[in-house]
Amino acid sequence: NWTATSILDEQVDRIKAQIGDAKVICGLSGGVDSAVAAALVQRAVGDQLTCVFVNHGLLRAGEAEQVELDFVASTGAKLYVANEQDRFLNALGGVSDPETKRKIIGREFIRAFEEAERAIMAEAASEGEEIKFLVQGTLYPDVVESGGGEGAANIKSHHNVGGLPEDLRFELVEPLRALFKDEVRAVGAELGLPPEIVGRQPFPGPGLGIRIVGEITGERLELLRKADAIARAELTAAGLDNEVWQMPVVLLADVRSVGVMGDGRTYGHPIVLRPVSSEDAMTADWSRLPYDLLAKISNRITNEVEGVNRVVLDVTSKPPGTIEWE
Ligand code: XMP
Repeated sequence: NWTATSILDEQVDRIKAQIGDAKVICGLSGGVDSAVAAALVQRAVGDQLTCVFVNHGLLRAGEAEQVELDFVASTGAKLYVANEQDRFLNALGGVSDPETKRKIIGREFIRAFEEAERAIMAEAASEGEEIKFLVQGTLYPDVVESGGGEGAANIKSHHNVGGLPEDLRFELVEPLRALFKDEVRAVGAELGLPPEIVGRQPFPGPGLGIRIVGEITGERLELLRKADAIARAELTAAGLDNEVWQMPVVLLADVRSVGVMGDGRTYGHPIVLRPVSSEDAMTADWSRLPYDLLAKISNRITNEVEGVNRVVLDVTSKPPGTIEWE
């Protein structure tokens, strides 16, 4: 019989006992788990915590701001931002293969995070301090999935950009280890995190990088961000956020089709809407969204996003389709 308040109090006590007066760092991905884990540690040990946000430039519209402004405003946490957009774009240049994209993004993410770590450690050292702990947002289902036990921290590292390799320099702090997702959201709300953060739907670590079928460029990311923002805003306006598990919006950058606008022909790219209903992402069905909503999203995207002249709906279940297109 838990309440968000009792979990919060208990975890804050545990974190204090574990960390004492040492320094600690925590990576923020933009997702719920890392935000709640960081906010808990901030509540427990305040400025002993430094959060690290590696901005890889593959987040959706408004998400970097959610970390840099809203998270900081609601928690008062110290944040170190590494703006690495160019680094990721350069590393991904000319790459279309999905698994190669994932590998590059994962590799660059770890490098960028380690660079940030070194900068923070150097600053601490100049004050005679040492960083001893690393916070991870591991949840109970992650612990179970990885066979449980200690050292389950790098769970999903095959799959998740946020999954850093187990770093032996640091002792791990895992305040969410006993919690399920809904409990994490409740604790996050109790900590005063904004609804946009605690209510966030699942979003892959490699982000929009695996929602551009084809090569990733800055221009294509911009285009996809606009289309995605429209689709999400309309879903929310229709009050249907809770009806869908997640709704990938995908740019088929290697496909072009003929369209018509005014007196002229266009030759643009299709955007795919992939709204799915699911319990755990292992299986999924395509969400039967209302036609009026689909029409609105389609009209807005084709009118407002230059370069897109067609919107299509993915009506494939999982299996045989996956949720993402890459
Ligand atoms: P699929 O496409 O395999 O996706 O049906 C299942 C769930 O996993 C998410 N996903 C990822 N998450 N890194 C992640 O952190 C990835 O590389 C990745 N690929 C897929 C997907 O969004 C869905 O929730």
